[in-house]
Amino acid sequence: MQTILTKSAIEAAEIIKRGGTVAFPTETVYGLGANVFDEKAIAKIFKAKQRPNDNPLIAHVGRLEDINLLVAEITESAKKFIEAFFPAALTVVLPKSARVPLIATANLETIGVRMPKGKLAQEFLRACEMPVVAPSANLSGKPSPTSWQAVFEDLSGRIDCILQGDEMTEIGLESTVVDCTGAFPLVLRSGAITLEQLQTIIPETLLYRLRENEAAKSPGLKHRHYSPHAKVVLVNPTSNIQNLKSSAFIGLELPDEKFDLMKICASVEDYAHSIFDFFRQCDRQGIERIFCETVEETGIGTALMDRLKRAAES
Ligand code: TXA
Ligand code: MG
Repeated sequence: MQTILTKSAIEAAEIIKRGGTVAFPTETVYGLGANVFDEKAIAKIFKAKQRPNDNPLIAHVGRLEDINLLVAEITESAKKFIEAFFPAALTVVLPKSARVPLIATANLETIGVRMPKGKLAQEFLRACEMPVVAPSANLSGKPSPTSWQAVFEDLSGRIDCILQGDEMTEIGLESTVVDCTGAFPLVLRSGAITLEQLQTIIPETLLYRLRENEAAKSPGLKHRHYSPHAKVVLVNPTSNIQNLKSSAFIGLELPDEKFDLMKICASVEDYAHSIFDFFRQCDRQGIERIFCETVEETGIGTALMDRLKRAAES
């Protein structure tokens, strides 16, 4: 299969309408999209990404009113979050409508819904004239793509089209996922919209933690994630870093040691924006060890530390 590269949201949307798969930029990371009501098109996403079929997809809308096509009910908590934040790096989980095929939600009776903020994403989604399901546009297990080149690296020849953004995606980490189906909202995955921000709207909002032997509420969280080939090691500015052969460093403070590849970030936001791209750069250069400086777990730092810890685990 030849993967078409285009900068035209209209051309990309035509491919979705014909049952194809299109990678497109959002303000978080690139998504790999298909028509939410087309089971065959959705099956192509799982195949292209080699995604386990128990991992549900997020549905993206270009207009708020399209949320009604996807869900059986917009709960009170979801209503408040949507009003306060959409369009945003925030996914609300709601009871799904009967129209949405079960392949989209990996057999769950709920569906994650998001309205991205990026200009090109909105133009594309509106041109599709229907909601688009999209996981991150990487091969399963690899870091999420923050540039069209990263999508190309993983999925060229496996998908119909890449809608090319001009720059790297603005935030660089995936959206916050909040389950709005229960008595109080539960954050299943942290992202740029922080727990603190959600709590200013609904103070009862909690961070979900998987207990041992419990079925995962967010199936994606149990899968291997965000990992480069290289071994990821977390360090703080006072750590004594050893074993420097074929190693890289990313963080906020310039370390004393010398590395084969190094990125000093101007802020925690810049660190979050750069991390997945840096992981890919390290893999391209065959780096064996990536030392990542830890950051304080507030604001976007919570989401960044979540991704760093997952990368270090695998
Ligand atoms: O920023 C993002 O969210 C990006 C862009 C493309 O929108 N998408 C993304 O999708 O990161 P993906 O598939 O890589 O991650 C989706 C996460 C998974 O952890 C999945 O388990 C969870 O959202 N999720 C999706 N639907 C769910 C549902 N109905 N209930 C619980 N968790 C759900
Ligand atoms: Mg993903």
